[in-house]
Amino acid sequence: MVKVAVLGAAGGIGQPLSLLVKLNAKVDELALFDVVNVPGVGADLGHINSDSKTQSYLPSSKEDKTALAAALKGSDIVIIPAGVPRKPGMTRDDLFNINASICQGLAEGIAENSPKAFVLVISNPVNSTVPIFAETLKKKGVYDPSRLFGVTTLDIVRANTFISQLFPQDTKPSDFNVRVVGGHSGETIVPLYSLGSTKKYYGELNEEQKKALIHRVQFGGDEVVQAKNGAGSATLSMAYAGYRLAEQILKAVSGETGIVECTYLNLDSKIKGAAEAKTLVNGLDFFSLPVVLGKDGIEEVKYDILNEVNDDEKKLLQVAIDQLSKNIEKGVAFATK
Ligand code: NAD
Ligand code: LMR
Repeated sequence: MVKVAVLGAAGGIGQPLSLLVKLNAKVDELALFDVVNVPGVGADLGHINSDSKTQSYLPSSKEDKTALAAALKGSDIVIIPAGVPRKPGMTRDDLFNINASICQGLAEGIAENSPKAFVLVISNPVNSTVPIFAETLKKKGVYDPSRLFGVTTLDIVRANTFISQLFPQDTKPSDFNVRVVGGHSGETIVPLYSLGSTKKYYGELNEEQKKALIHRVQFGGDEVVQAKNGAGSATLSMAYAGYRLAEQILKAVSGETGIVECTYLNLDSKIKGAAEAKTLVNGLDFFSLPVVLGKDGIEEVKYDILNEVNDDEKKLLQVAIDQLSKNIEKGVAFATK
């Protein structure tokens, strides 16, 4: 019996993401929680003839905690696209003031009702909201770093698509699985194109093309924010990316082995390889890296790629580390005050 809860299920990401989860045969129960409109989403999805049961949960007032509790009770995986998205001219960090409190409230709910669940955080700014989840769960005495995932999968999806678009005759996006490390905002996003599946094609680009490609991955979110012209940020590609990570976790939970995905994780020494990774990123507590997934969460951090990067990527990593350290501090300070 596998239960998945989506918090923020009536939103631009929440709705298509919930649809994708609803279609996964490994899911027995789908709990939809939001502070608006969620009964309609639940009724709509509930007509789909896949075998999972769908329930929606709407609080009756700001003070009502029973709806969140009911959505979370018994959940194995909690996916969180709750919160405000960007408008043109805003950075993800501009969302901090409002989304930090939303995330803290949801983290408290998880601590009380589903402390063993895998927690997948989509709400921006991810670089800071994931530390808020970690600190809040810690305060409540239920924190397991191997079950907390900052969702940076959209950066990988974009990195795969954008390099393929430069070689349309010879490649398709699915040929690639770029390792994108660091965080999820501007220069904290570091696509390691010189490694693995993209090495050959990346090597064919001149310096200007390389810079433009990396810049496009780092600021890909802005393309969508501008194109939507005030109506929000990426929703459909994000729903796909969030589902991709959730799907891999569902496979790992059901016993499949050898699954590696990138995620923004807490480099806590309880996780194999995390201490080594932490040393390589100047002592940062959170960083996106490939991890091995198992039944109980993150089993191992694959930090070796950080030793394989070229000199240009080393410079990009340094910039990312400097910015991330401030983003992480901000989240920790908020949650521990
Ligand atoms: P949206 O406004 O369309 O939807 C957000 C939903 O969250 C709304 O339905 C809202 O009612 C709900 N919500 C607000 N407070 C809540 C609470 N306390 N509990 C439960 N639900 C609550 O926004 P969106 O486009 O779906 O984006 C959601 C978030 O995801 C934003 O912060 C956005 O920046 C972020 N995002 C992250 C990534 C990523 O790569 N990690 C990508 C895209 C967007
Ligand atoms: C993205 O990368 O698309 C998201 O983080 C949303 C945003 O604000 O750009």
